[in-house]
Amino acid sequence: METLEGIKTRYSVRAFKPTPVPKDVLEKILGAVSNTPSYTNTQPWEVVVVSGKKKDDLSKVIFELAKAKAPTNPDLPMPKDWLAGHEARSGEHGARRLATLGVARDDEAGRENLRLMNFEFYGAPCAVFLFIDGILGEWSIFDMGLFAQNLILAAHSLGVESVLQASVTNYAPEIKKFLGVPESKKLVICIPLGYPDEGAKLNTYRSLKQKPEEFTRWCE
Ligand SMILES: Cc1cc2nc3c(=O)[nH]c(=O)nc-3n(C[C@H](O)[C@H](O)[C@H](O)COP(=O)(O)O)c2cc1C
Repeated sequence: METLEGIKTRYSVRAFKPTPVPKDVLEKILGAVSNTPSYTNTQPWEVVVVSGKKKDDLSKVIFELAKAKAPTNPDLPMPKDWLAGHEARSGEHGARRLATLGVARDDEAGRENLRLMNFEFYGAPCAVFLFIDGILGEWSIFDMGLFAQNLILAAHSLGVESVLQASVTNYAPEIKKFLGVPESKKLVICIPLGYPDEGAKLNTYRSLKQKPEEFTRWCE
């Protein structure tokens, strides 16, 4: 797939077929992603790929925590505040996603079901967890963003789709314990990977994007 085409056609997939992603495909994706640039070439990424029964068992653990509304402990803090524009776009995203599914804003149960789907990795056969060491700071988080986007685009070029999940990182301590990852590591993001369920209503949702003139100022 041509790069520009890949960037333009990617979207967050939130319903997957159970079909496993073959290991050689995952290896091909990770092989390409290893070329990600990083701050002074530190390559801070530590990757755990979870699939099969392990993925199902982990999903059960975090689903129960989320359902019980257990205390959340993400390694990367939630933003303290947003500017009006951020707030408006985030609110619009939430509302339009509900509308796609025909879930009313006051339908508490419908909204909760949608939230909880995160903790089943939206049915994906595989979930990739990205960690960095706890001593690292903001430049490494920046590197991880590049790594994550490369991963997503490499996968997309092979027909493997994804969604980024900050929601899952709310249970970072429990996930690290389950995966045998030291507490000193920071869980940056979770990325389910799989083949999209083309018929699923959730996958008909597309987020609205700003036009370049809304976020660009030319100084010539
Ligand atoms: C850091 C980050 C965290 C995200 N966390 C979640 C999440 O927990 N659950 C989810 O369904 N989508 C999540 N998303 C996906 C965003 O909602 C999505 O990227 C955005 O609405 C734009 O839509 P698009 O990816 O289809 O272009 C996350 C995206 C990013 C970049």
